[in-house]
Amino acid sequence: MSNEPAATAAANGSEPILRHPRSGDGAQLWRIVRDSQVLDVNSSYAYLLWCRDFAATSLVAESDGQVVGFVIGYVRPEAPETLFVWQIAVDTEFRGRGMAAKILHGLLDSVADAGVTTLETTISPGNTASQALFSAVARERGAELRTVSLFEANDFPDSHEAEQLYVISPAQRQEA
Ligand SMILES: CC(C)(COP(=O)(O)OP(=O)(O)OC[C@H]1O[C@@H](n2cnc3c(N)ncnc32)[C@H](O)[C@@H]1OP(=O)(O)O)[C@@H](O)C(=O)NCCC(=O)NCCS
Repeated sequence: MSNEPAATAAANGSEPILRHPRSGDGAQLWRIVRDSQVLDVNSSYAYLLWCRDFAATSLVAESDGQVVGFVIGYVRPEAPETLFVWQIAVDTEFRGRGMAAKILHGLLDSVADAGVTTLETTISPGNTASQALFSAVARERGAELRTVSLFEANDFPDSHEAEQLYVISPAQRQEA
């Protein structure tokens, strides 16, 4: 594993590879989330466990041995055709070059054979980057995107923002 910091890898322009996470990636996911200053920072333990137990429905982008972006998701137990994307993030130095869209397309392509036809995620009203990302991915796959209210701010016990549900279907790539 290289100890090269993400900023150096970005400057060197090496092409990241996409792969499913390993338990050892959990710490880097936690760091990316903490540094994003936007996402809920769950416990470091949650990310380690996620990388072990939900690796098949999660993907990381690795550049020079560093995880520089990721998506973590799960197939909803009561709706096995639906992939719920819990969090997606890209290190600041790697943003704005299509990496998040590439990771999301990669994950959707990898779960297509498992019968996943729908993507769900929730986005808070102020997260325009995330809204743009999921809109772009829906458009690029020829899918419809609809939004419904899921959790209101007063559903949360703390000062959490409301979370709106975004549903993309069909999630498989449509022929042009
Ligand atoms: C949201 C995030 C993952 C986007 O990563 P990225 O690699 O820069 O995104 P991409 O380059 O793949 O862009 C995908 C689309 O989103 C748009 N987009 C990305 N960042 C944007 C921003 N800050 N403002 C407006 N649009 C944005 C791009 O223009 C592109 O749309 P287009 O194809 O219509 O031009 C990244 O900003 C991030 O990690 N943010 C912090 C964590 C977060 O908010 N995660 C989402 C909630 S779980």
